[in-house]
Amino acid sequence: MKPIVVGISGASGAAMARSTVEELLRREVPTIVVCTQAARLVWQEELEVPFSQTLAQWQEHPHFTHYPIGHLRAPIASGTFPCAGMVVIPCSMHSMAAMAHGLASNLLLRAADVCLKEQRRLVLVPRETPIHSIHLENMLTLARMGAVMLPPQPAFYLKPRSIDDVVHFVVQRVMVALGLDESLPAELQYRERED
Ligand SMILES: Cc1cc2nc3c(=O)[nH]c(=O)nc-3n(C[C@H](O)[C@H](O)[C@H](O)COP(=O)(O)O)c2cc1C
Repeated sequence: MKPIVVGISGASGAAMARSTVEELLRREVPTIVVCTQAARLVWQEELEVPFSQTLAQWQEHPHFTHYPIGHLRAPIASGTFPCAGMVVIPCSMHSMAAMAHGLASNLLLRAADVCLKEQRRLVLVPRETPIHSIHLENMLTLARMGAVMLPPQPAFYLKPRSIDDVVHFVVQRVMVALGLDESLPAELQYRERED
């Protein structure tokens, strides 16, 4: 099975990144993680644990690989490396802007650029609110290039009771967008109420 790249950038929503990596590893999908400096700050702020500590736990898994953000010679920086696709979760407006303009100054951006040029799946989970016209234009540019724009919005009709419920929904949506599942699990699908 070809690996999935998980890019973690410095927007709010570190829990979504953690849960995505854990879901992929639970499924024994080869998982390659690259994380920006800003994402490490947000990780500490939101999850109250250093990213390095989580990384150490993930590194015990045989299907897990991590490359430092400055490692531009990593295999995922080349289109010749076989890869099933990439998700950037959460996706900051800074990384979104760079991707929309073909800037590839770190490994996350380069790996995303490779997905775009090779026409592989690229799933972006943008987290910002409100968003201005440049954010929207960058999202439109990337959507037109084939990226899937998957904002982490709750399915209110499912009546989520916790942040975990919302994170779970988003991660399952990401699995579908990456082509790992054909559809959402039945309990996350909209059902007409019988009343
Ligand atoms: C606690 C915290 C939360 C942040 N939340 C967001 C956010 O939700 N969306 C966003 O676009 N930027 C957010 N930022 C700002 C980004 O981290 C900043 O723009 C950074 O330069 C992004 O760099 P990166 O794209 O290389 O990760 C946040 C920063 C901090 C410290």
